[in-house]
Amino acid sequence: MPKATYTTHLGMVDILPDESPKWRALENIIHEEAARFNFEEIRTPIMEQTELIKRGVGQLTDIVTKEIFAFTKGDSNYVLRPELTAPVVRAFVQHHLAQRGGAQKLYYIGPMFRAERPQKGRQRQFHQFGLEVIGSDDPIADVECISFMMRIYQRIGIKNFTLKLNSVGDPESRESYKNVLREYLRPNFDKLSELSQTRFEKNPMRILDSKEPEDQEFIKNAPVISDYLNEDSAEHFALVRKYLDMRGIEYVVDPLLVRGMDYYTRTAFELTSPDLGSQDALAGGGRYDLLVEEVGGLPTPAVGFAAGMERLLIACEELDIQLADEKSIDVFMVCLGDEAREWVIEILPTFREQSISATMDYKGRSMKAQMKEANRQNAQYALIVGDNELASGKFVLRNMHESAEEQLSIDEIIAKLKS
Ligand code: HAM
Repeated sequence: MPKATYTTHLGMVDILPDESPKWRALENIIHEEAARFNFEEIRTPIMEQTELIKRGVGQLTDIVTKEIFAFTKGDSNYVLRPELTAPVVRAFVQHHLAQRGGAQKLYYIGPMFRAERPQKGRQRQFHQFGLEVIGSDDPIADVECISFMMRIYQRIGIKNFTLKLNSVGDPESRESYKNVLREYLRPNFDKLSELSQTRFEKNPMRILDSKEPEDQEFIKNAPVISDYLNEDSAEHFALVRKYLDMRGIEYVVDPLLVRGMDYYTRTAFELTSPDLGSQDALAGGGRYDLLVEEVGGLPTPAVGFAAGMERLLIACEELDIQLADEKSIDVFMVCLGDEAREWVIEILPTFREQSISATMDYKGRSMKAQMKEANRQNAQYALIVGDNELASGKFVLRNMHESAEEQLSIDEIIAKLKS
């Protein structure tokens, strides 16, 4: 199968016929694993109201300030969804899903939109699969999310990655940590990058995520959040680590891991791969215990993750992992003459009704051209139909891979292809 080029048109990618089988194979894996974990699928609209994303993701985040595709229609402001956590929480609140009882274990697959600078592994329309567990603050919910995420990569055969884990604390822990961080950075405020200076007051933790060279020295020696977690947050984090250990899931605690959305509380995690180059995050997620309330629901703890599907497919290419079998069809009907062609037109549906994939030439070409087409379509068999075959009721079935031929009745052919 040809390699995907990931050349983008305005930062967007067409998934062409040679590519779509592996997308479908990946989607099938996600649906199968979701069923095993007992997650239920949710599909929400591509557009959301701007206000939801601003409130949910955070006014000062890069996503909201720089990356949303926003537009107005009448009195309403819309965005193309940049992520699905806030929309899923909106749906949870709007449709009173809490009334179904228990924690809602929801998963999704679909396109997201962010106006980022396009490059390999970063598009303006990209696809995520992910899940959200809404209604549990038990650390097992965090670990089940991480387990699901790992299971997908493991099943596909992508093993070369690092799971980074942190706790960004609850609001109380975070407030005390932010003060400590500000006090630590304040003497060097003028030496920080411009971007970090703008984050200093409202969101100093994002400075830890800075890639600017002038910030690195200060980040390296910064106080770490784990020293400022209150008892609840520390205990929660310890249990997340314990359950991961029990499942043999390896991770590194990275005290500098702060994620790009404002909704995170306590657990935060990211899966990175050296096979991806500069856009090395395969997936990321964490807990967001305050978001449901922020969006208008009752206080409801929640946790989830999302993974970039293009990045997963890039990793597959780098590792030479074939997700889909080579495309093929069972039988290509080769017709010699008008009468044969009409007979084939009539019989084709019978093959398909018997779950046999079958097709014919749509152009009325020569036998040689039809055989060539059968080859191009990677047919297992060619069924050759001419006047003699119609008269005798015995047809030539040619095995295209072994170049062997048999003469069989149509019933025998159907039985053979079905088996
Ligand atoms: P995120 O880290 O922004 O998290 O995105 C998750 C994954 O989507 C990234 O790790 C990356 O693989 C992929 N991704 C993000 N932006 C792009 C892009 N421009 N092009 C290609 N791939 C991209 C979230 O979206 C959160 N909603 C995750 C979450 C769910 N947290 C809790 N629940």
